[in-house]
Amino acid sequence: MLLGMSTATLAHRLHDPLTELRIAVAADALVPPVPRPVTGPLPMLRLLRQLRINALPTWAEPAYELDIVERPFLGRTSFLINAPEGIRRVLVDNAEAYGRTPATIRILAPMIGDGLFLATGEAWRRQRRLVAPAFAPRALDLLARVTDRETERAIDGLRRGGLGAVDLLGFVQRLALEIAGRTLFSQAMTAHREAVREGIAAYGERWARPGALDFFLPDGWPAPQDWLRRAGAQKWRRTLARIIAERAAVPPSDPPADLFDVLRSAAGDGDAPFTEAQLADQIATLLLAGHETTALSLFWSFHLLASAPQVQALVAAEADEVGGATPTAAEVLASRPVALAVVKEALRLYPPAFTIVRVALRDDVVMGKPVPAGALMVVAPWVLHRHRKLWAEPAAFDPGRFMPGAPPVDRYAWLPFGIGPRVCIGAQFALVEATLVLSRMLARFRVEPVDRRPVLPVGVVTVYPERNPAFRLVPRR
Ligand code: HEM
Repeated sequence: MLLGMSTATLAHRLHDPLTELRIAVAADALVPPVPRPVTGPLPMLRLLRQLRINALPTWAEPAYELDIVERPFLGRTSFLINAPEGIRRVLVDNAEAYGRTPATIRILAPMIGDGLFLATGEAWRRQRRLVAPAFAPRALDLLARVTDRETERAIDGLRRGGLGAVDLLGFVQRLALEIAGRTLFSQAMTAHREAVREGIAAYGERWARPGALDFFLPDGWPAPQDWLRRAGAQKWRRTLARIIAERAAVPPSDPPADLFDVLRSAAGDGDAPFTEAQLADQIATLLLAGHETTALSLFWSFHLLASAPQVQALVAAEADEVGGATPTAAEVLASRPVALAVVKEALRLYPPAFTIVRVALRDDVVMGKPVPAGALMVVAPWVLHRHRKLWAEPAAFDPGRFMPGAPPVDRYAWLPFGIGPRVCIGAQFALVEATLVLSRMLARFRVEPVDRRPVLPVGVVTVYPERNPAFRLVPRR
């Protein structure tokens, strides 16, 4: 065993990962910069404009200390909820009394239709039952195998392209799309990659930004931007239809070859299988929700580690220790605690889904406050993850918080995937994928920033970098 180890491994064997990580965190002392919060409540027009540009600074300092913040918003009341008791009431215990907001539906429906993310009531319950098998442990092992193979392939491509100034954001977006495509359809995405990425990028840039009417009009009331958004999503929907037609031409196999087979044959007790249109919405939902968010969590993990060389060295040492055999999903998570902790810390500091918003469908009482039907209930991971009552040194990069042996994190303080019945169905998927890619990449390369200019996060639908920095990759062996 020892004979098979590299010198680097011998020099760096992790004996007590938590202690070593704490030492590395202290040496790196990284506090990543963020946009400066507004100094007080913004007038409505400025708030609406800011939400289209970057929502992250719109919460003023007190929001990071209070349990609940109430403010008027276009004729309704909006509540920002930070306290575990309030979050539990809205997202878990009385979740049935809250629904997706008309703005969320208007913005996302043209891209993902009535799939699992936007469905409500009995239709949602049925979809969740039908989709669940696609995320069972066997499917996660398929994901681990695909991730392993595709990451190695992508690393070969990186070497051919030169390592001096690498666009890691583009790299992880292409890789995450390839992994999503292969686990969903067993197909290479090469032929469709540009069309898929362009479809998503164009929609994000032009149509995903919220406007006043999105917040103002009740669901179902027509607005000009609904039509424009449907037109804007055409390219994405047409590309998806082509991918689905190619895959559907291959007969189902038993056991299922991929998630498409699972979804195509899905039928729970007394449930009819999905119709073609429902299957298309489901695929659109999983492909979009699945790869963009995971790619962002990987980008932010690399970005943080590029400025935290000591922690990065520990992730690399851990990767050396576990070696190159293809792991199961459970092994990915159990044998790479440092890489997993880095991914979780990146999800804390840069939660891709920075707000989880609901509308009250009926009157309720939350934390002693009367909540009228129509009120907006906001749980904002961006705020929650930096809340001063819930975290020690909230602005500092410290993956040690998520290590085995560290004091447990409050269940309601870290919610990158939400919580309750509508918790992200792909959470394990994302953690396995991001942890394995990070570990494999850092086994091969040291990641360094090419320049030291700050990279600020921007929040519009997801949290992405204000500029796309280049990274230098230095081969480790
Ligand atoms: C780091 C990556 C990811 C993040 C941060 C993320 C985050 C979230 C959040 C915050 C929600 C909403 C929870 C709510 O409204 O209460 C959600 C829902 C959802 N996510 Fe994810 N997600 C990620 C990866 C994935 C992946 C890999 C998939 C699928 C392959 C996926 C599929 C979905 C679906 C289908 C829903 C809707 C669930 C429902 O309403 O029943 N997500 N995700």
